[in-house]
Amino acid sequence: MENTLEDKQVQMPRIGDKAPDFTAKTTKGDIKLSEFAQEKWIVMFSHPADFTPVCTTEMSGFAQRKKEFDALNTELLGLSIDSIHAHLGWVDNVRRNTGVYFDFPIIADLDMKVSKLYGMLQPNESETAAVRAVFFIDPDKKVRLIMYYPLNVGRNMDEILRALEALQTSDKYKVAMPLDWKKGDKVIVPPPKTLEEMDARLADDSIEKVDFYLAKKSI
Ligand code: BEZ
Repeated sequence: MENTLEDKQVQMPRIGDKAPDFTAKTTKGDIKLSEFAQEKWIVMFSHPADFTPVCTTEMSGFAQRKKEFDALNTELLGLSIDSIHAHLGWVDNVRRNTGVYFDFPIIADLDMKVSKLYGMLQPNESETAAVRAVFFIDPDKKVRLIMYYPLNVGRNMDEILRALEALQTSDKYKVAMPLDWKKGDKVIVPPPKTLEEMDARLADDSIEKVDFYLAKKSI
């Protein structure tokens, strides 16, 4: 299917943008994003539909690892283009069948307002169901990392938690995170910006160094 002119005019949020504000109905009452989870990170994620298998595994994954998100000062916020009644029925069904309880708000985005605002509705994948998106939003309500997965591939919870912890650690220590970084690994020291800094880096034996532009340290 060709993209329509209307699709092209929708500006999806990008990394570094202020997270577009919205109000929405959720399984835990009405929310306004700008007032939700003050001074916390938000992991906002969409799923295509309630009562579907891959979505059930993913939502259960978020629920089962919620304590790890809590420990990272992060609120979970789900979304799909379903009604509140469908959400409530699904939450109850999964709880009765598996004992897993989705104890975080899930947006009922029946009018697709939030899905469109966040580019979760990708018409060449589905015109009616949100793709599997994850938005990492920092305490200043800035979008810091975005993932988009298609309908038929579930996300990886280890990677979502790893990416969240990497963002927070990068902010805290003003460092960058190398390939496959996980908690406890060395981090990348920002490269020098002047000749003086470069010479200081070359003379510094306290850090692990391939060359002046690639150096790691423990934190
Ligand atoms: C699922 O969650 O299983 C699913 C939902 C929509 C399309 C395909 C799979």
